[in-house]
Amino acid sequence: MEESKIMRGDDFGGSLPVANVQALAANNSLGNIPLRYIRPEYEHDVVVDEDSDHQIPVIDMSKLVGAHEDELAKLHSACKYWGFFQLINHGVGEQVTDKMKQDIEEFFKLPLEEKISYAQLPNSVQGYGQAFVHSEEQKLDWNDMLFLIIQPIYHRNLRFWPTTPSSFRETLEQYSSGVQAVSKTLLRMMAKNLGLISDDNLLSMFKDGGQGIRMNYYPPCVQANKVIGLTPHSDANALTLLLQVNQVQGLQIKNDGKWIPVKPLPGAFTVNIGDIIEVAGNGEYKSIEHRAIVNPEKERLSIAAFHSPNYKAMIGPLPELLKNHIVGYKTMKTYEEYLRKSARSKLDGKNELEGFKL
Ligand code: OGA
Ligand code: NI
Repeated sequence: MEESKIMRGDDFGGSLPVANVQALAANNSLGNIPLRYIRPEYEHDVVVDEDSDHQIPVIDMSKLVGAHEDELAKLHSACKYWGFFQLINHGVGEQVTDKMKQDIEEFFKLPLEEKISYAQLPNSVQGYGQAFVHSEEQKLDWNDMLFLIIQPIYHRNLRFWPTTPSSFRETLEQYSSGVQAVSKTLLRMMAKNLGLISDDNLLSMFKDGGQGIRMNYYPPCVQANKVIGLTPHSDANALTLLLQVNQVQGLQIKNDGKWIPVKPLPGAFTVNIGDIIEVAGNGEYKSIEHRAIVNPEKERLSIAAFHSPNYKAMIGPLPELLKNHIVGYKTMKTYEEYLRKSARSKLDGKNELEGFKL
């Protein structure tokens, strides 16, 4: 029994059950927002004008694959100075991304009774609900989500995979393998840019790597500027590929103490460096804090695909990078142990990375 529980990744430490935000928003047109969602701590944050030229770089994947030196250099500087970029011409077909968008929109439109048949169970990170809630006092995000582990397959639990719409599972399968392939290519390019001579170094860490997909639903909020869709955090994994589902913006990244709104290009993925690349690269590339804000009138949906090392891989700076360099981070436990710990903590900027600091 214990064995099968561990096998299915159902003991990563769940989140306390809280209200369904979509239902709360639907019954709350007057703006009487429960106190737990009101976040005065962000009131004075500086947000850069969304029409400013200060935007994350755009990388053309077809040029990277074609080994254009300029594009590789552009990727290196995007990873080093921004930790975020948009990726165009990535090769995942529009029919795949469009179908994924359509199916996830349909899922969130289902009546609550139907959606909660995929609700998280105690102690599991997978399923429909909210993540990272660990105390009754903790402030809450204006967001519902469906989180599924896709890889490794032994952590999959189909119990949480929707069967409505009927194409959902197949669509997710196609979409996840598409983005996984893109992430592998990007990692290979990054290894080159980091000066790793033997490709294996980084890539063996990612052999049979992990993939989780978080589908976010941010309901509109009449007091949008008083709540937050997703608390500022860096991603605990290695590389995230985010797909904007509808035309509503909300992602902001922290740069030089200010928040920069990301304006997704049609069809592009927004890619970001997670904590594991920061550690493996000995700090050359940094994971960047980001958050999501809420729209006063419109719902917003996004799909984040998190790519991580093999669950059994030891996480630490790659030895090849340490010749002639100061070691910046400890080697800590396996990725799986790290994941268990981060799933049991609340989101708090880059706090989770502290454990790696020397
Ligand atoms: C995430 C995330 C941002 C967004 O799911 O980790 O940062 O725009 N999402 O939804
Ligand atoms: Ni994130």
